[in-house]
Formats: sequence, structure tokens, C-alpha cells
Amino acid sequence: MSVRSKIIGTGSYLPPRVVLNKDLEEVLNTTDEWIQQRTGITKRHWASKDETTSDLALKACEKALESASLKKGEVDLLLLATVTPDHEFPGTACFLQAKMGIPGVPAIDVRQQCGGFIFALSIADQYIRTGTYKNILIVCSELHSRCLDLTPKGRNLSVIFGDGAGAVVLKATEVTDPENQPHIISTKIHSDGSQAKELWCPGPGLALFGKERMTSEMIDDGLQYPQMNGRAIFSQAVRTMSESLTESLTSNGKALKDLELAFFHQANRRISEAIGKNLELDDSLIHSTVEIYGNTTSATIPIGLDDAVRKGKLKKGMLISNVAFGSGFTWGHSLIRY
Ligand code: UT7
Repeated sequence: MSVRSKIIGTGSYLPPRVVLNKDLEEVLNTTDEWIQQRTGITKRHWASKDETTSDLALKACEKALESASLKKGEVDLLLLATVTPDHEFPGTACFLQAKMGIPGVPAIDVRQQCGGFIFALSIADQYIRTGTYKNILIVCSELHSRCLDLTPKGRNLSVIFGDGAGAVVLKATEVTDPENQPHIISTKIHSDGSQAKELWCPGPGLALFGKERMTSEMIDDGLQYPQMNGRAIFSQAVRTMSESLTESLTSNGKALKDLELAFFHQANRRISEAIGKNLELDDSLIHSTVEIYGNTTSATIPIGLDDAVRKGKLKKGMLISNVAFGSGFTWGHSLIRY
């Protein structure tokens, strides 16, 4: 008998404002046709001007706690992944914790970009396996719309991102029948910092010119906006997520035929299609939300999990694999008996 983590609730929040591709055509010098052809994205959600990353996170957490039938006072650890924090410091998890009204509970930010959910899940799983914590709330929240270069210069990046938050509640559970009982079977995380600048946001940053973290010249140069070598990232995403999905199964004595549903970090539908083709996965095994939510970075997988639960597609007992790849580079998997 071993103590393992079990997902007992999911929640997500997408701000109500929907931005269609055609709404971006003039400002970004793009077309609905280009965006759909190159990415599969048709629309995304954008937060209102008075919402912050911790506000989106709060709404997703409330829904996840409700679906888990857990009171906020029962949470032992709060993990928040984001690439778009409320402030430089302290971490957004602290702002969220204050909004939740649970002082004293450890609140940790995970800054692993699109890999944020897998990294947070892996950290949480270790705390549960060691018996340190029993109830862990993980939330991934992103507010890209106010961080992007919304001029034609930024169009390659600005068309793919959307705002949103997804949360899961983990509970410690005694597992006596690992083949059937819901639990996280394994997580594996990887990083390669040598390629950090292929997808990064240079400013504010002390390593820029050895000056202040942010100067008006840096702003004039647009260094506060993310920069991406799209083609390089695309091929790395396909390779690493294909390998991670295979690794999630083979390292646990499973095969592709055992897989019942897969959740990829989704930046572009063509990436998921290429992974599917590489591994000869049936389309029905890949749960996709990029078409309607765009790339919500760390939040993509937990939003997808919640979406699949609420649509009745993800059911208790199913074997699922989550894989992510993103800036850092960071990537990895989790294999779960849901
Ligand atoms: O979530 C983190 C991980 N991120 C990813 O996985 C993203 C991976 N990369 C991608 O999804 C794709 O690289 C993008 C969708 C971002 C871009 O697509 P692409 O086919 O790689 O475009 P590109 O940047 O190589 O540009 C090709 C052409 C260029 O025109 P020329 O030089 O060939 O005349 C661009 O100027 O497409 C042009 N272009 C656009 N045209 C209209 C780039 N972005 C746009 C746009 N609208 N939004």
C-alpha cells in the first residue's frame, strides 16, 4: 500500500470577452485565413482591464474546490504557475492566497512557462508521496493579452495567445490496486536552458545591458514583449512532446493501445496533428481546445482537463497522458489513472 496523489476536482475560468481572428486583422496586419491555416485557432478569450492573473486564478480555484467538495481552509499547499505574474515580486501565489483568505498556507510560484502545469504537478506529487501535505491546490493562470506586442511587428506571437486559468485539486490517497485506482502514476520533467532565448521575454531584466532592470530605451526597443523563433520552437515541440508521450507509457510498462485520452500543451493545432501523425494516434484520443482558447501557456492542460470532465469525455478510471513543451526549454509528462 502506498500514498499517491489523486485528482479530486478540476475547474477553469475563461474571461467572458471573446476575440475573433477578424478582430485582430487590422491591428496586427493579419487575416483570419492565415491564422486558421497556420494555427487552427479561430478565437481566444481576453481578460478585462480590471482583471489580473490572480483574479483569473481565484475563479478557477473556486470552481475546482467546489468540484472537489473541499473547503479552502483544508488546502495545505497552493501552487500557482504563470508566465504573466501580477508583479515582479512577490509571487502571484501570494496575491492569490490573500484573495482566497487562507493565510499561513505555503504559496509557491512555478515559473516554468508552458511546462508549468507538469512541473507543478510533479512538485505536488512529491509532497504527497512523502506524506508532507494531503490536499494541494494547483492553478495555472495566464493573462497574455496585456503583455503582447499588438502591432504588426508582434503578429506571429500575438495571434496565438489567449487568457485563462485552470486548476486541479490533489488529495493523498492510499493505493492498493494501482491498475484500477485513480492516482498519478508518474511525472517526469526536463529542462534545457541552452535554448532559453528561442522563446523568451528579455525585459525587465538585469542581464540585458548591466544597467537597471528596465529603462525607457528598453521599452522603445520593445524588450518587454515576448520574442519567439517560431519554426525552431515548432519542431522542438513536436519532437519533445512525441518523446514525452512515449516515455510516459513505456516507463510504466504501458503501450499506446492502453492510452484512453491525451492532453498536449497546445500552441498550434498543427503541432498536435504532427505528434498524432508521428505516433499514429487516433484523433479521438487527443483532447483539443486550441481552436477556441488559443495558447494559454501553463493553463492549457488544466483547462483541457476541466473541459473534458465537464463534457463527460474524461471519466474516472481512464488512463491519460499529459505532455507539455515550452520556453526554457522545459518539457515533461504525467501519466494518470484518472
Ligand atoms: O507555447 C509555447 C510554444 N510555442 C509554440 O509551440 C509555437 C510554435 N510555432 C508556431 O506555432 C508557428 O511558428 C507560428 C504560428 C508562430 C508562426 O507560423 P510560421 O508558419 O512558422 O510562420 P513564420 O513565423 O515562419 O512566418 C512565415 C510568414 C512570414 O512571411 P514571409 O517572410 O514568408 O513573407 C511572416 O511574416 O508568415 C508571416 N506571418 C504572418 N502573416 C500573417 C507571421 N505571422 C503572421 C500572421 N499573419 N499572424
